[in-house]
Amino acid sequence: MSNHTVTITDNATGKSMICPVKMGTHGHPVIDCQALPKELGMFTFDPAFVTTASCESAITFIDGDKGILLYRGYPIEQLAEQSSFIEVCYLLLYGELPTPPQLEEFTWSVKKYTLLHEGLLGFYRGFRHDAHPMAMLVGIVGALSGYYHDSLDIKDPEHRHRSALRLVAKMPTIAANSYRYIMGRPFSYPRNDLDYVHNFMNMTFSIPSEPYVFNETAIRALEIIMILHADHEQNASTSTVRLAGSSQAHPFSCAAAGIATLWGPAHGGANEAVIRMLQEIAHPKNIPSYIERIKKGDFRLMGFGHRVYKNYDPRAKIIRESCHRLLTELNAEHLPLFETAMELERIALEDSYFIERKLYPNVDFYSGIILSALGFPLNMFTVMFAVSRTIGWVAQWMEMMDEPNMRIARPRQLYTGAAQRNYIPMSQRQTLKS
Ligand code: ACO
Repeated sequence: MSNHTVTITDNATGKSMICPVKMGTHGHPVIDCQALPKELGMFTFDPAFVTTASCESAITFIDGDKGILLYRGYPIEQLAEQSSFIEVCYLLLYGELPTPPQLEEFTWSVKKYTLLHEGLLGFYRGFRHDAHPMAMLVGIVGALSGYYHDSLDIKDPEHRHRSALRLVAKMPTIAANSYRYIMGRPFSYPRNDLDYVHNFMNMTFSIPSEPYVFNETAIRALEIIMILHADHEQNASTSTVRLAGSSQAHPFSCAAAGIATLWGPAHGGANEAVIRMLQEIAHPKNIPSYIERIKKGDFRLMGFGHRVYKNYDPRAKIIRESCHRLLTELNAEHLPLFETAMELERIALEDSYFIERKLYPNVDFYSGIILSALGFPLNMFTVMFAVSRTIGWVAQWMEMMDEPNMRIARPRQLYTGAAQRNYIPMSQRQTLKS
């Protein structure tokens, strides 16, 4: 136990309190100020939780200055190169890499839950043909709480575990069918002879009239995207899942809340913005004038820069290679969209405006290009993110539910409204003059 402390003194009253400083394995120390209201009668003010550690977690670590991302201590580069998405799911959920029999057992325990209840397919039909697939995802994942009554007791660890496996197993089926619904294709069913990513691609793109031919470079590119997006510590959607879960809501509802948060353009939507930007630029010859307008501050270069990673997004390094490999394999480098993307990347990486501000391509720049090259329409991009992030939400929810002293999350506020006043009867009210 460290004896590092911070003393907070109230200059108005002269009262002070000593706060313990907690050290994690890596990262900034945190000041434990939970006793602040009791000792000094105050709360902390931290809009958007910019300086608040909302929980203790042993799952993921990010060092934005050094460009480090670890899942359970393992560098993301090693996992992206050597692991599979299902193995990463095991790692995030249980904390250790599996042995071969453990991985086999886990894989099957996920596979046995891949089917959807037929009743759920009726939910899709309630949507307009042009509904956003994220709207379907929010609705259908939330609706899972109306099924599976055999595992709805969140106080039972076995039920929690089964719900977690169900979510990981059913997300690709739900996502693939949302795509099929908007495309007017018949619903598809999982194939448990395939692994997680092959099954997902098959469910999404196969058609009943002919066999689906897998492209292994495409499968690996998608698997890398999924590994890179599996968790990112206490981001907005994960914090939402934890907050919803702290009220003891069912995990399917918590995941639906996470999906709703992810949908926002400030979170999961940037990869879509990258493709829209590339479509607007239209041709590499238009890049210099586009860059000039960015430098003048007219708008931002989408897919560049990151709030946390001020050195280099470690995920971007990995996905960049995968993106270049895929475009070569698909012979797509010369299609105008991808030619524009590669030229934009080259010019921006050499331009002093971007170098001085440390604005590197982020993971969204490349994931947008890859998903587009794989044939996913723009409105499926955030859905793909949600499928990948489900394991992160589930692992973080499981970790929180295992805490012996878990309490409902309830932030405080700085109230700046009207001071207390008495009700005025209608007959005595005067119209406010502007
Ligand atoms: N294009 C051009 N200039 C930029 C960009 C950009 N993409 N990002 C930052 N800048 C400039 C700013 O104008 C500012 O310049 P100044 O110092 O001359 O005023 C400087 O770089 C610092 O910018 P901040 O706004 O302080 O950077 P911040 O950390 O707040 O922003 C953000 C991070 C929001 C990601 C930003 O870089 C951005 O808008 N990028 C484009 C959108 C995008 O790709 N988002 C996905 C992020 S990755 C993810 O969520 C998984």
